Order: sequence, then C-alpha cells, then structure tokens
Amino acid sequence: MKFFLDTADIEEIKTGIKWGVVDGVTTNPSLYAKVGGSYEEILKEICGLTKGPVSAEVMSDDADGMVKEGLAFAKIAPNIVVKVALTTAGLEAISRLAAEGIKTNCTLIFTANQGLMAAKAGASLISPFVGRLDDINEDGMIVIQELAEIFANYEGLDHCEILAASIRHPRHVTESALAGAHVATMPLKVLEQMTKHPLTDKGIAIFKSDWAKATSGK
Ligand code: E4P
Repeated sequence: MKFFLDTADIEEIKTGIKWGVVDGVTTNPSLYAKVGGSYEEILKEICGLTKGPVSAEVMSDDADGMVKEGLAFAKIAPNIVVKVALTTAGLEAISRLAAEGIKTNCTLIFTANQGLMAAKAGASLISPFVGRLDDINEDGMIVIQELAEIFANYEGLDHCEILAASIRHPRHVTESALAGAHVATMPLKVLEQMTKHPLTDKGIAIFKSDWAKATSGK
C-alpha cells in the first residue's frame, strides 16, 4: 500500500520523507490556507522533494476553467496530479485532461457510484473521504470496501487507484489496507501515530536497562 502525506507543509513533508515511507503528497485549498504563500511555489517545492504524485486542486466550477487550471498545474512538474472535485463538470474536465495525458485525482467522493463515475471518466486516483463520512455518523470505510470489490470485478479500471482520504487515525489506514485501497493519504500526525505502541517503548527501556547491567564494569 502506498502512503501519501496530506499536507502542504514543507517541513512536515521533509520529515515524512526522511522516514522512507512517503510515496506522494496530496494538497487541497484548506491545507494550502494553513501555510499560505504562493500555491504554485509550494507545489514546485513539494515536487522537488518527492518523485511521487503531488495533487494540486483546481478551483473553477466549469470544465473549461478546470482544464485551464489543470494544464497550468501540469506544467509545474511531471509528477503533478490535477485534483478535481466530483461534479459533472469535474467528470468532463477529468476526461479532457486524461485525453491530454494528464493524471487526475477525483476528490470529494462519498459514494461508490461517484468513485465508479470518476474512474470511468479516466481519473488516475479516486479519493473517497472516509473521515468526513464517519463525522456524520456514516461508515466511510464501506465506500472503500465497495469500490475495492467493484474494481476487482472489472479489468477496465486498471488505470485508476483507490486513495483512502480524510484519514483521521491509524485504524483508518489498517482498515483501508484490509479493504484493498491502493493508497492512503494522511496527516503527518497519523503517520507518526502508526509507529507507536507502548510495548515498543517499554521493550526499548528494558533492553537499555539490561544492556547497561550486562556491560557495567566491562
Ligand atoms: C485529501 O486529498 C483530502 O483533501 C483530505 O484527505 C481531506 O481530509 P479532511 O477531511 O481531514 O479535511
């Protein structure tokens, strides 16, 4: 399973990359708003830090505007993936960008049908938002499970990967992996939480203490 960092914060991305487990980055307008500056410059810098896909989100409502923004993003670096929200205009933009050979990440997906539509339109990544569904008392993981099952039923969807988004905690990652998501994008905090277990900390403390006893006086 691939792990993407869900942030526009350069220092967080550098930290995750050092751990050797980051395969790409997703940004969105809210994540960009947290860091500010020039979105284009930030994207350029992120693309210099990872060779993996870096999602850049378009903001137009109409397909022409989305395609225009997407073509401009694609010029920033070869690993840019144009992020487009799931609307009918978004589907048109995804299909037009795919025809130009530009990869897209269809975002704000909350049902398997929306994911299937985006994959059929030619999206390279589809992003079901697990956490935001959980937030409204639904089970976000069901969308991942349904999409994984649908993808397993057909060969024609091989161009597209299921990206579990809106990840809130480590169990979301485990459950997405078990359900068959190809990628999970998460905040650095969740990536770090995934390394933690109290018995690991306790074990290190015991080993240190035993080592000190065994080597004292040598
Ligand atoms: C990533 O591509 C999404 O934009 C992101 O995971 C959304 O996460 P949130 O629901 O925590 O804002």
